[in-house]
Amino acid sequence: MIGVFDSGFGGLTVLKEFLRVLPDYGYVYLGDNARAPYGNKSAEVIYEYTRQAVDFLFKAGCELIIIACHTASSRALRKIQQEYLPKHYPGKRVLGVVVPTVEEAVKLSRYHKLGIIGTSSTVSSGVYKKELEKLRGDLEIHEQACPLLVPLAEEGWLDRLETRMILKKYLRPLKVKEIDTLILGCTHYPLLAREIIRIMGKRVKVVDPAKAAAGKLVLYLGRHQAMEKKLSRAGKLVFYTSDDAHKFKELGQRFLGRSVGEVKKIEL
Ligand code: DGL
Repeated sequence: MIGVFDSGFGGLTVLKEFLRVLPDYGYVYLGDNARAPYGNKSAEVIYEYTRQAVDFLFKAGCELIIIACHTASSRALRKIQQEYLPKHYPGKRVLGVVVPTVEEAVKLSRYHKLGIIGTSSTVSSGVYKKELEKLRGDLEIHEQACPLLVPLAEEGWLDRLETRMILKKYLRPLKVKEIDTLILGCTHYPLLAREIIRIMGKRVKVVDPAKAAAGKLVLYLGRHQAMEKKLSRAGKLVFYTSDDAHKFKELGQRFLGRSVGEVKKIEL
């Protein structure tokens, strides 16, 4: 099974893409809804929560985990890959969403003027900037934390005037800098993509990390046959949440774009 982890519902936008491009594999989704949002928590707390989630997903039978959450990918992934996995699960793998996203952004950008929007923790981690700079030394990078967008997306306020006003306020500094490519560095932002594109204008390329991560997963499985062979192809989908299962099922539909099957409540 492939594990997909997020702090809450947002990672379902990533799972949606996985199901579109790799529908035959089995997936286990875990949303730590009881402790979300992660976006304003400290690095230590985010690492500890993510480590517990990784532990849960491996024990649930996953061989490979994708951390769909940008905040967890920015704050916890490296330490999990470098310290936790070698010690506790040497044969298993954990991947994130930042590297696939920056690779796609650099490919798309014509004038190398990039903007990143994300949670406060993702932006203050500087991980997006660091990974972008590893790919090219001549990039102009502008970052903007957008802490109000997650609750707005969860409330389903996608086309509201209030949301448009807040988006305009967040995006104005990036528009002024005339960025040519914008990274949606948070699981919830693809839901607001239409409005974001309208505000930024068609000239600006918008990178959807869910699509970038799905494309990268296809390549990864092609290159790592030993891992690919271990994954079940029964097409099974299992959902876990650390909060109310009924609420997850109801709200999750909006992010997954289809009905969510059986959901089990767990404790992390
Ligand atoms: N999943 C988080 C992210 O992509 C957004 C929600 C949260 O703050 O927990 O950064």
